[in-house]
Amino acid sequence: MKTAGKIIGALMSAEGISNPYPIYRKARELGPVTQIAPDWFLISTYAEVREAMRSAGYLKNRYSRVDEDQRAVRRAHRSIQLFDESVLLQDPPEHGRVRKVLSAAFTPKRIAAMEGKIQQVTDQLLDALAERASASGAVDFMEDFAVRLPLTVMCDLLGVPREDWGRFRPLARDLNAPLEMIVDDAQLAAADAAAAELDEYFNSLIELRRADPQDDLISVLLGEADGEAGQLDPRELLANLELLLVAGFETTTNLLGNALAVLFDHPEVREGLLTGKYTYSEFIEEVLRFDAPVQHMIRSAGAPGMQLAGVPIPAGAELVMLMGSANRDPLRFPDPDVFNPARPDNQPLSFGGGAHYCIAAALARVEGITALSRLLDRYPRIRPIGTPIRADRHGLRGFRELPVVLDG
Ligand code: HEM
Repeated sequence: MKTAGKIIGALMSAEGISNPYPIYRKARELGPVTQIAPDWFLISTYAEVREAMRSAGYLKNRYSRVDEDQRAVRRAHRSIQLFDESVLLQDPPEHGRVRKVLSAAFTPKRIAAMEGKIQQVTDQLLDALAERASASGAVDFMEDFAVRLPLTVMCDLLGVPREDWGRFRPLARDLNAPLEMIVDDAQLAAADAAAAELDEYFNSLIELRRADPQDDLISVLLGEADGEAGQLDPRELLANLELLLVAGFETTTNLLGNALAVLFDHPEVREGLLTGKYTYSEFIEEVLRFDAPVQHMIRSAGAPGMQLAGVPIPAGAELVMLMGSANRDPLRFPDPDVFNPARPDNQPLSFGGGAHYCIAAALARVEGITALSRLLDRYPRIRPIGTPIRADRHGLRGFRELPVVLDG
């Protein structure tokens, strides 16, 4: 347990946040399932992470079933309560009902219909990037592009005015803190403040749409919320709108930043994309494997008598499923530390699996492919300048700043 505990400490350290992959290797050497504390387990290999994600025996929210005291603690924090009330942390039967309502927004047909809009927004943002670069030379790829594309797409989809986008990056960053493995009091207070601000914002937007529905997801979901029994109740509506906004952009922002950083580190991959040796779809899939925007997810054992890789898991115990490690498991991916877009049967676990599989994985892929292909078409020699800064989180892995020169 002591050695496994050290692994958590190492992952949360500055060095681990900068590069968790050597630490994951040590975790896998301890075995697929390692006990960290009596009710805390680390899962580090592909087969076992996949099994835990897909098994109906593991729940998203152990507190909803297991522990009344913890439930009270969680209710006292709006940021935690918000995730608890969203599809992300619901369990059956609520999960299936809410997921069905939300899924209507992400059908393949709807996502295909959004492709043209995503291309248009990408081109506008690249124009603006060029203007900023001509004025100042270097630009920050994260702030000036990677944040804006997914945020604009989410704002349009939900029906949030685009001009409000600037408020959401810091709010999402604060709000997401409780999704990390360890969160301190200051981070929790900031998360609660962000949740309160987002509640106020979305409550007034909901009122506006209630009075005057538009062609947007808020209006659609409002119809559902007010409609037949069994749809979203007002609290679920609020929680899921806020979840969609934050889940929909910080993850995709990090995919774009991580993808560009891969290109900087692997000139041969850039050449392969420019010459058509690799497709952008293969490239984005390999970025998702190699440097996943979401590094871990939590599940908990829903009943006594469960086992994973032969290790007994007590009821209520939490599993930290390290997708970032599973994606580098040599038993599943030969030469896992090599970036190879031509990898056959590349199926990383970066969008999760089972009932909670990312509802918008197809949308995120379209955004990744569109952004990187149009960026490289236009700026094939884009290069880094100065020092990139990683965001200080383990779970949501990405860059805070990635300064670049466009015509390197
Ligand atoms: C590269 C971008 C993205 C990544 C890596 C990502 C990753 C994930 C992962 C790992 C989960 C699974 C959680 C679990 O198994 O417990 C998830 C769920 C979810 N994602 Fe994404 N996501 C991305 C983009 C998006 C976008 C663009 C949206 C919204 C527009 C979105 C909305 C959601 C929602 C609502 C869920 C909860 C589904 C459920 O619990 O049933 N995600 N995502």
